[in-house]
Amino acid sequence: MATFEQKSIIITGAAMGLGLAAAKELAGRGANLTLMDFNEGQLKEVAAQLSEEFPDVKIITVAGDASNEEDVKKYVSEAQKAFGRIDGLYNNAGIEGRQAPITEYDIQVFKKVIDVNLMGVYYGMRHVIPVMQQQKYGRIVNVASVGGIRGVQNQVAYVASKHAVSGMTKNAALEYGRDGITTNAIAPGAILTPMVAEAFKQVNPNDPKAAETEYAQRNPIKRLGIPSEVAKVVAFLLSEDASYVNGQTIAIDGGESNIYGNS
Ligand code: NAI
Repeated sequence: MATFEQKSIIITGAAMGLGLAAAKELAGRGANLTLMDFNEGQLKEVAAQLSEEFPDVKIITVAGDASNEEDVKKYVSEAQKAFGRIDGLYNNAGIEGRQAPITEYDIQVFKKVIDVNLMGVYYGMRHVIPVMQQQKYGRIVNVASVGGIRGVQNQVAYVASKHAVSGMTKNAALEYGRDGITTNAIAPGAILTPMVAEAFKQVNPNDPKAAETEYAQRNPIKRLGIPSEVAKVVAFLLSEDASYVNGQTIAIDGGESNIYGNS
């Protein structure tokens, strides 16, 4: 299992869900962390809990909006100030938007989803890469989705943004591999986080648990994923062990994205 001692890793959207799970996994392996989220209260709580559990690692928090370039510059400069370097960026902050067919999709929600999921990931890479170039080392993990590989009914903005994440990941891999920087994306399937719980509420407001159970039946493993299962793959991609993996979008979905038709 790769260690992250003396490594400095930034995690966006770290206050809950997949970001929080990665923070726990990486702190447990000795990483110093810059945790960023717009939910400042929750972020501070999470940082305090992690510091108590892992007293040997240093954790700083930066409250801000990943879709605001100035806030992105801030988390980059704060990480540099605290740790002198940035070894990894887990570009994870993202939102789902609303469920609606293309012709009825709310345009403002569409733009917001693109702003956070696409521009947020882009700004992160734009401002972290120059630091990594100077170091001649870096690992970037962008968060796409199975919706970045396939269509997902009623989620046009999300699918557009996540396909873009996968595309930008390929470009970063081509443009900065020579600088010792690898860039990959993950494509989680349905992982039980607050975001997914909210989606099931939209699918079946009267019985979200029934929507969840029905959804799980489509999966070859017949259950939803849990955040720690994603965090372990993220830790691998952020580690030195993943030195020859570059430009890939790795599905973490129990095999669901391979299904054709009704299995
Ligand atoms: P979540 O909603 O449980 O947690 C997301 C975190 O990001 C929250 O703490 C929220 O405050 C923060 N955040 C949202 N927008 C932000 C912004 N503009 N600036 C700063 N922080 C912001 O979501 P979850 O499930 O943990 O998702 C994390 C990432 O994984 C997202 O990019 C999502 O699209 C992706 N994903 C999740 C899947 C799942 O099944 N949970 C499946 C596929 C992808």
